[in-house]
Amino acid sequence: MRLPPAAARLLPAPPPARPGLWPRRGAARPPEQVENKTKGKLQKQICQVVLDHFEKQYTAELGDKWTSVRDVLTCPSCWQYAILLNKFSQSAELENTLCVEGYHPAFQGTLPYLPRSLKCYISRTPRRFPAQKHQTGKLKEYYLLNAASVLPVLALEVKDGEDVLDLCAAPGGKSITILQCAYPGQFHCNEYDDLRSRWLKQTMESFIPDPLVNLITVSKLDGRQIGDFKPELYDKVLVDAPCSNDRSWLFSSDTQQAKFRLVQRKELSSLQFQLLRSAIKALRPGGSLVYSTCTLSKAENSDVINLILKSCTNVMPVDISEMAKAVSQEFTFLSDTQQHELLVLPEKGKAWGPMYVAKLKKI
Ligand SMILES: C[S@@+](CC[C@H](N)C(=O)[O-])C[C@H]1O[C@@H](n2cnc3c(N)ncnc32)[C@H](O)[C@@H]1O
Repeated sequence: MRLPPAAARLLPAPPPARPGLWPRRGAARPPEQVENKTKGKLQKQICQVVLDHFEKQYTAELGDKWTSVRDVLTCPSCWQYAILLNKFSQSAELENTLCVEGYHPAFQGTLPYLPRSLKCYISRTPRRFPAQKHQTGKLKEYYLLNAASVLPVLALEVKDGEDVLDLCAAPGGKSITILQCAYPGQFHCNEYDDLRSRWLKQTMESFIPDPLVNLITVSKLDGRQIGDFKPELYDKVLVDAPCSNDRSWLFSSDTQQAKFRLVQRKELSSLQFQLLRSAIKALRPGGSLVYSTCTLSKAENSDVINLILKSCTNVMPVDISEMAKAVSQEFTFLSDTQQHELLVLPEKGKAWGPMYVAKLKKI
């Protein structure tokens, strides 16, 4: 890895972050995610306003499929968690334990890109392996995540030495997945939100050993401006965009806030479009980007990508259907999508997603 450029620190200060504008994926117990104690057990409560909204929108967009997706989204006890092993803190004992407990490697087919160093275990039964606590000076052995979160990283196909930008990186799940796959030349992880940026740094420190972690640039810029600050600098860019985050939004505890988000939701596609435009600017010609969200919403997925393809003549779609085919045993995809995109639909026993992934190449 090359030394991180100090340039990020010299850049003009980003406009103030707008905390709370969008629901955040993977946030540790966001305030809206209430848990009520019922009969001594922790139970999440569904927000009816959001469910009603989803019923209308997703019945129109997904048809019959919505019923089975809704059954998973509204049933946290059906949710599954994958275990991403940390190659920097390998433990044969952990792999043995996982196998004894009925876990198996998630990605076994002949994928177009599957580094041997990437090890992700899943189990068909919905259960959660205990999370590891952050301990200063000690690397964690694994990271719990939605197995569908690995797909954008596999689609990005990062090779050793490539310059990579993770535009919306906190809390860092995909950044550390990228580092399980390859050693980028330059690795720039960006997160606009101050608090989440600190969380991102902590994730990196917990998973990546000292000499490497110091070579990763972590910045706190507005991703919409990075393309202007760093034009044509990267071989690969991941845009894991802020989105409606269907799973967490469904469990909003504050109905007023949930209603407010219904209004704000309309602004998200414009933000996503601007992030993508910035990512395209930041790419070298010949470089590629992956766009991902964890919502089923067409307005934040295909519509955004179609608009980019229409308005930016210097990008073309990249076929990712081979990858989708290779993992179709473990994931359920929406049919009739285009070759450059996929949408993972959660299903009982394969409760992964929602996750939309699209890949583009800069000409
Ligand atoms: C879906 S989350 C990213 C999850 C992360 N990639 C992971 O795998 O752990 C989207 C992130 O984008 C951040 N974000 C929102 N607006 C942004 C902007 N304008 N520029 C950069 N990041 C932004 C949010 O704070 C949030 O942390």
